[in-house]
Amino acid sequence: MCGIVGYIGKRDAQSILVEGLKKLEYRGYDSAGIAMYTEAGLQVKKAKGRLAVLESHLDGAPLVGTVGIGHTRWATHGKPSDENSHPHTDMTMKFSVVHNGIIENYTDLKEELIASGVTFVSETDTEVISHLVAREYDGDIVRAVQKAITHLRGAYALGVLTEFEPDRLVAVRNASPLIIGIGEGEHFIGSDIPAILEHTRNVFILNDGEMAVLTKDTVELMTIEGNFISREMIHVDWDAVTAEKAGFDHFMLKEIYEQPKAYRDTMRGRVDSDLTVSLPELKLSPAELANIRKVHIVACGTAYHAGLVGKTVIETSARIPVEVEVASEYRYRCPLITPETLVIVVSQSGETADTLAALREAKANGAHVLAITNVVGSSVAREADSVMLTMAGPEIAVASTKAYSSQLIAFFLLGMYLAQTLSTQETAWVRGIVAAMLALPEQVEQILDNTDALREYAESIAVHEHLFFIGRGVDYAVAQEGSLKLKEISYIHSEAYAAGELKHGTLALIEDGIPVIALATQNALLEKTVSNIKEVKARGGVIFGISDVNEATALGKAVDEVYAIPATHPLLTPALSVVPLQMISYYASLARGNDVDKPRNLAKSVTVE
Ligand code: AGP
Repeated sequence: MCGIVGYIGKRDAQSILVEGLKKLEYRGYDSAGIAMYTEAGLQVKKAKGRLAVLESHLDGAPLVGTVGIGHTRWATHGKPSDENSHPHTDMTMKFSVVHNGIIENYTDLKEELIASGVTFVSETDTEVISHLVAREYDGDIVRAVQKAITHLRGAYALGVLTEFEPDRLVAVRNASPLIIGIGEGEHFIGSDIPAILEHTRNVFILNDGEMAVLTKDTVELMTIEGNFISREMIHVDWDAVTAEKAGFDHFMLKEIYEQPKAYRDTMRGRVDSDLTVSLPELKLSPAELANIRKVHIVACGTAYHAGLVGKTVIETSARIPVEVEVASEYRYRCPLITPETLVIVVSQSGETADTLAALREAKANGAHVLAITNVVGSSVAREADSVMLTMAGPEIAVASTKAYSSQLIAFFLLGMYLAQTLSTQETAWVRGIVAAMLALPEQVEQILDNTDALREYAESIAVHEHLFFIGRGVDYAVAQEGSLKLKEISYIHSEAYAAGELKHGTLALIEDGIPVIALATQNALLEKTVSNIKEVKARGGVIFGISDVNEATALGKAVDEVYAIPATHPLLTPALSVVPLQMISYYASLARGNDVDKPRNLAKSVTVE
């Protein structure tokens, strides 16, 4: 899940590479480096640490040239260090490679190369590629790369340069994302669109098993076997500033505040004036939908938590049984998938390796795969049978916020569409929920206008090392997301429990002063949740309760502090209740002095298994 950028043209390559890497830092930030073709030949500068460290090295001794590749790393093989940073070179320093992915057979290749006299300077899997390319080179870098990659097993997006052919830049994609940017008299490669958006909006998206040969004036696309291919150019509409912070202190905060827009954009064009839902992107006829016997929702992390809410929404609205599973577990347990199974994969980035593998497993077993993703042209979007795009816009902060809540909106839309098409619920019921959905953006705005209490509470918990979240039904699903968010960016250990389950063991951990966040938005379950809250309170827990305005007074009697969210339909509460939890995590992270947008050990896009 490293970031790759490359440039070939007539402008100063160093600044283009460094600026591109800044946009990709969310993919990994253990180290960064660039290789450029300069008057002195191929030169590499790289350094452990954030991009700023590399920049300080370059400040004193810039590289001058118009061709280069750059990389920002999220360590998989070998610790973060100068040596393990990319770009990697061969022993003669004439070939340079940046890589995103994992070479699974690198140990065998390394042994073979060492036996033939090659000396390695890093612990990475990537270094084998630079030595292989050098070994295969016979005067044509394209042929050398093609031959080298026949030895590789695993996932890789590559950018390759050689000093012998300074007018060519070679890019390869196999199971790790890579795009080609088209300029005038200049071309780019990038792991992701924001890396090159400042320079061009016209891109080719490489598929697995494809490569590109770039000069400043031409781009040739071909299979890795060398067969030329043509590809439709995609024009990207994103505004470059959309991917910037726009005055907010952090991307995460900006993205939290963008949720009303993300909700509106995700519903736009899908909700008709008569409060029915249209989903033309779902490529299943009503008859085929009626044939669906079960639904599997497969995803990772936050997207998995959206799936937990999705389960309740689909089971309630369509009366079809739903299983939700973590993608890294799904394909290894021989899941029972049949052509009557609808498999929904959820992924903000659309590039998560585990989710992609689950998608392929589902397709191989004949299921129809519906992807809920935020990125057009992503691997998941391209391989799924149907694609429901969340319209959250680019999400940069590692901690997912607006992508998660837009996934909830997608599930609400899907649930209502199914209820309407399968007639599993009354029309009035569907319309009532759709009307309530349309009110959600404004209700989120109300929450975001009322964050002082959330900040104060977050600051009070920032000194704690442990915290619990409890809730019932969809509140439990949201509690799990709140807990992940808090762990991810504040590094406070927390656990989410179904409120009724605490007394079966976990209650032993409740002691004097331990903070507990209790979600109690399900009015029909309020009394039960309050009983569980009292069990916690009796053992010394300090409780911050979240309910809707109608129940805030009742809940207030049982907890130490209550925060009220606007009232909505019980199925829709996650789209509101998650917002205070996001804000609490944000402020707790700030209070602890953490890097909110780039939490330790994590990366935005997880393209390794
Ligand atoms: C969310 O805050 C996390 N960074 C992480 O759990 C993320 O949701 C997960 O890696 C899945 O990513 P995806 O949605 O891009 O597939």
